[in-house]
Amino acid sequence: MKIAVYPGSFDPVTRGHIDILERTSQMFDKVVVAVVHNVTKHALFTLDERKEMIKKSTKHLDNIEVECFSGLLADYLRQKEATIIIRGLRSMVDFEYESQMSMINRQLIPQADTVFIMSDPRYIFVSSSGVKEAALLGGDVSSMVPPLVEKGLQEKIKQIKI
Ligand code: COA
Repeated sequence: MKIAVYPGSFDPVTRGHIDILERTSQMFDKVVVAVVHNVTKHALFTLDERKEMIKKSTKHLDNIEVECFSGLLADYLRQKEATIIIRGLRSMVDFEYESQMSMINRQLIPQADTVFIMSDPRYIFVSSSGVKEAALLGGDVSSMVPPLVEKGLQEKIKQIKI
């Protein structure tokens, strides 16, 4: 059984991430989405909120599991008996950062490989922080995030403004 892990902050999940999941769910027997607490990023949504948004946005895919994790990705892969790390690539800037991360992971868990998926051209400019900034400033982000994420963003904005 080929098990892949797709790690990321997903704060929040975007249509770009969903596209990667739709494509990779066809390639592997199971894809585990690992929602990571990234200490270097200030999150808008809690880990559980992010997990629920991904679960609901991937209801149409039957081999996706969503979990929260903290710690070393290599340890998580061992725990899940996974041999593939999925990462989306949007540009050469992503590539430089991602290639370094894949080499570190290769040292930490040599039996695992990172598989890079080029973002669909429709989502090449989309990032979670871009979406958050645009939404907070009143922009329409409906083409970038699933409808339930758009709703979640509106609710967060209301809470912030109270
Ligand atoms: N569509 C839209 N956006 C995309 C995308 C796509 N296809 N692919 C990447 N992105 C965006 C994300 O939205 C995110 O945007 P943001 O910075 O505006 O939030 C950005 O690209 C990359 O972030 P993300 O995918 O969340 O990764 P990250 O860099 O925050 O985290 C981890 C990377 C979680 C995989 C890494 O930190 C990790 O493995 N942590 C565990 C600890 C560990 O093992 N460390 C050693 C390994 S080097």
